[in-house]
Amino acid sequence: MDQYKEEKKRIRLVRADITKLSVDAIVNAANESLLGGGGVDGAIHSAAGPDLLRACAALKGCKTGQAKITPGFQLPAKYVIHTVGPVYRGGMNKESELLASCYQSSLAVASHNNVNTIAFPSISTGVYGYPIEEACRIAIVETLRYLSGHSEITEVTFVCFSDRDLKIYERAMTEF
Ligand code: APR
Repeated sequence: MDQYKEEKKRIRLVRADITKLSVDAIVNAANESLLGGGGVDGAIHSAAGPDLLRACAALKGCKTGQAKITPGFQLPAKYVIHTVGPVYRGGMNKESELLASCYQSSLAVASHNNVNTIAFPSISTGVYGYPIEEACRIAIVETLRYLSGHSEITEVTFVCFSDRDLKIYERAMTEF
């Protein structure tokens, strides 16, 4: 059943460094302090420059599952949407609901800021240990659901940082 036939046309899967993408907004997999870290958080902060840290400090943190927006500063992207994914602790601590909320919140913040094109990294699947096979299906289904009611989001890019991750996303996409 091709329930999301139209919405799937607005999703792209790429292997890339998210800091290089010229989209309206890139999403950062941050922590609750919003004061930077390693992984994609570290890459985004070093590419955006020190103004990003100052802007983040002014936001006074972000709860897991929620999202906040800043300018992109020296990044090619106009905005950074910072979201905080759950730390995976076996799956019995509402991790899937919290991860779903990251995608929902980030897309809602995008719509509220006239963002039409947005790129996501694979939230929580690095340091936070969320198994990517499950996490990518949450990413895809939540995004398809959101796109079905929001034509203003014209393109969502899932950015994979390895060929392995890209293959996992590609396989998952065939299930929708
Ligand atoms: N572009 C795209 N994806 C990237 C990049 C990049 N430049 N760098 C890393 N990634 C990928 C990782 O390979 C992984 O698939 O982003 C995904 C998320 O991994 P992490 O960055 O470790 O994020 P997460 O698992 O959500 O952990 C968040 O890590 O860096 C700290 O401050 C951050 O405490 C927070 C925690």
